[in-house]
Amino acid sequence: MSDKTSNQMWGGRFAAGPDAIMEAINASIGFDKRLAAQDIAGSRAHAAMLAATGIISDNDAKVIREGLLTVLSEIEAGEFTFSTALEDIHMNVEARLKEIVGEPAGRLHTARSRNDQVATDFKLWTRDQFDAFESGLLALITALVDQADRGADWVMPGFTHLQTAQPVTWGHHMMAYVEMFARDLSRVRDARKRMNESPLGAAALAGTGFAIDRHMTAEALGFDRPAANSLDAVSDRDFALEFLSVASICAMHLSRFAEELVIWSSAQFRFVVLSDRFSTGSSIMPQKKNPDAAELIRAKIGRIFGANVALMTVMKGLPLAYSKDMQEDKEQVFDAADNLMIALAAMEGMVKDMNANVPALEAAASAGFSTATDLADWLVRETGLPFREAHHVTGALVAMAESKGCDLPDLSLEDMQTVSPAITAGIHDVLGVHNSVASRLSHGGTAPVRVREQVARWKEILA
Ligand code: ARG
Repeated sequence: MSDKTSNQMWGGRFAAGPDAIMEAINASIGFDKRLAAQDIAGSRAHAAMLAATGIISDNDAKVIREGLLTVLSEIEAGEFTFSTALEDIHMNVEARLKEIVGEPAGRLHTARSRNDQVATDFKLWTRDQFDAFESGLLALITALVDQADRGADWVMPGFTHLQTAQPVTWGHHMMAYVEMFARDLSRVRDARKRMNESPLGAAALAGTGFAIDRHMTAEALGFDRPAANSLDAVSDRDFALEFLSVASICAMHLSRFAEELVIWSSAQFRFVVLSDRFSTGSSIMPQKKNPDAAELIRAKIGRIFGANVALMTVMKGLPLAYSKDMQEDKEQVFDAADNLMIALAAMEGMVKDMNANVPALEAAASAGFSTATDLADWLVRETGLPFREAHHVTGALVAMAESKGCDLPDLSLEDMQTVSPAITAGIHDVLGVHNSVASRLSHGGTAPVRVREQVARWKEILA
């Protein structure tokens, strides 16, 4: 047993201080010091409310609120000594406040508990992250829309199974990611709205007998309203889980795009040139330019999804209300948020800087018999063949081209007519990749005019 004296905040009934291992497993100050600004904002709002409701004197509130600003400036200046013995940010701040302002500091914790305090602090922090998430997504979407605008009619191969399927436009491919990140954006906004209820004043779990004004603190902290149920308010971590799950889906989107950039920037594809600013060299192979940023973005999903699973696992099976298990929430969200923000910013930078290799895209677009579907569609339209039969005829033409070692547009009319006499010279019009993409005019299709409409729609939304 350690010979330290018991905790100055809650040690009244304790004869001895904690074992060193107990202190190590229990203390959260090593990481929750990141909540200092939120903790102080929450305490300042609480003190003002305690005075407005006559629970403490105006003068005490004034002294407390000013003292808290001094604590904040000490922390911001890096002059604050964090103490593990004081466990967490809440008690570190309050203990320092006591040193600065003396006795009134002891009145701050009236009608409040660390349970509603930590829920409030962590919500405020997570809310800021939702806002940063939103800005990061908007910046990335803007960069993608700009790329789509530039290359609305550049042709490239569209893939299924990573096998050449049909030609698509660069702009269409970029706008596909815009749609994905726009869904992330909508999830962020939705979750942010839902989480914006104040836990402050729920106290330990049951509310308080003091005549507090929870609406006042909620408003002061930018919440839409106080949370309706005190038990739920102190034990709810849905906001953190929603952050992590929305972040996981977004990181999955980022990872898919990052994978494409890794493939596209390879010597075998050469679809894009990534800028030097987002690449690295090799210490042994002088020719190498590695897409490290894309690879790291691709990998970030691991820790973000891991955080989501970790916190879900912490929360499952916890009885109401607060349990110390919940202290394990913060590091997961901190790490996921840090890595998500850097991944979003790196992706935005890469997208802004990357240069499409338009000739390589076009050459690849015509390879692999990518206009075979156009040919089959032509047979249906012009010769009245049922699609299944047209599919068969086209397959025979593909086999012929393959045996001759050429592409579909290179087959002569005479050769084609040996497979189907109904074929006429008009067929060559649909075999080119530009005609192919231009013909895909259906709603949501890859035709440059459709892409330009989507670009225009998004520019309006972003403006
Ligand atoms: N450090 C704690 C946490 O992060 C604060 C709440 C402690 N509450 C308690 N009843 N011990 O969860």
